[in-house]
Amino acid sequence: MNTGKVDVLLGLQWGDEGKGKVVDVLTPRYDVVARFQGGPNAGHTLEFEDQKYVLRSIPSGIFQGGKVNIIGNGVVLAPDLFMGEAKDLEKSGHPLKERLKISKKAHLIMPTHRILDRAYEAAKGKNKVGTTGKGIGPTYTDKVSRNGLRVGDILSDFDRKYSEHKERHMKMLAALGWTDFEGFEETEKLWMEGIEYMKGFQFVDSEHEINNLLRSGKNILCEGAQGTMLDVDFGSYPFVTSSNTICAGACTGLGIGPNKVGNVYGIMKAYCTRVGAGPFPTELFDETGKKIRDLGHEYGAVTGRERRCGWIDLVQLRYSVMVDGVTELIMMKSDVLDSFETIKACVAYELPDGTRTEEFPYEIDDVKPIYKELPGWKQDMTKCKSEDEFPQAFRDYVSFLEQYLETRIGIISIGPDREQTIVRK
Ligand code: GDP
Ligand code: IMO
Ligand code: MG
Repeated sequence: MNTGKVDVLLGLQWGDEGKGKVVDVLTPRYDVVARFQGGPNAGHTLEFEDQKYVLRSIPSGIFQGGKVNIIGNGVVLAPDLFMGEAKDLEKSGHPLKERLKISKKAHLIMPTHRILDRAYEAAKGKNKVGTTGKGIGPTYTDKVSRNGLRVGDILSDFDRKYSEHKERHMKMLAALGWTDFEGFEETEKLWMEGIEYMKGFQFVDSEHEINNLLRSGKNILCEGAQGTMLDVDFGSYPFVTSSNTICAGACTGLGIGPNKVGNVYGIMKAYCTRVGAGPFPTELFDETGKKIRDLGHEYGAVTGRERRCGWIDLVQLRYSVMVDGVTELIMMKSDVLDSFETIKACVAYELPDGTRTEEFPYEIDDVKPIYKELPGWKQDMTKCKSEDEFPQAFRDYVSFLEQYLETRIGIISIGPDREQTIVRK
């Protein structure tokens, strides 16, 4: 039988590695692009033909005709935000309705989920996660506690179901003492408009859809959101998101058997960033961190928040490569380090008891990074057209990373544009 293949593309750090750009670059090799977890907490940026787009819930394969894009069952969807995103894309000349299918099993983020998100964060006080405020945690909580509202529910007796869920949420908010409902009615109105708008799209049993496409020889690229360090099981818990961002999430979030997964592309920056609260061993609080933020324009695509910046952490990355089963690495934002005299890479942690480890530990709150220093290449790489043009010091950096991570770096990105991508031989 002529079956197609499923490849998975994931962030290996704390999100914002550049997944959107890579999906867009790789889309010509695939027939289908599918999102399997997360929701509008994601912000995936794509740049081509002097235009910049930020996608939140819609797969990054949407810009290329003839491709099927699927929002899988593992995703949580906010109808009002989805409508805004979809209408913007349609306005910019990218037809959606024939290219996008939505799983009936995807869960809906209700306006009250967003308020609950704020209320839970406020209740956590100084321990707050620093969520994106998009209602992600409360929606996944409802899913797991078997209280969720799904896309398929839109098709029958929806108003009654919505009211019951809203009432339950209101009781929870009252128990938390929450009184701030400013703008709620307008949001709810827009949300209901979003529900009507969504009816113009195809709601599908995406597990059947995907497996049938595979059987007919189509190739599928699964687009991860967030990053491995934000995975609810393996990330820096509790400072994580509420879904499985790791490779296994593609199986549960789309209904694909693990034996169907082929390549696993692990996306990493040449350094490291994080938005929101939580431990970050290689974080830089000095001028170097500021320089990385300025040169890399490290501000959140969704919330505009400053991203925390630091050196690449190979202990953390080796862990991600392990739990994701990465077969090929893709390194982003190499150009951001073009002007640095010295580059550092964390190769081990010193634990609070003074011992050294290269194995990612249970707690990373108080570990001290041990660095290897490498000479910078001090050359503008943004216009390089092939790897032959890369400076030697950069090649040495790449070889060192490949050796430590025991995985090949197959693609190197040297700027935000689609064209600034070097596929290695
Ligand atoms: P995602 O969430 O993983 O898709 O990543 P984001 O879009 O949140 O953040 C990545 C940012 O880096 C975006 O602004 C991209 O346009 C930009 N970017 C991607 N690749 C490169 C690169 O190689 N060099 C530079 N300078 N910017 C890049
Ligand atoms: P992309 O797909 C970076 C972070 C938030 C917060 C934590 C929990 O663009 O890489 P949530 O709203 O999910 O409950 O927030 O996770 N976070 C992200 N950080 N990139 C993302 O997505 C993120 N999505 C969530 O900042 O610390
Ligand atoms: Mg992002």
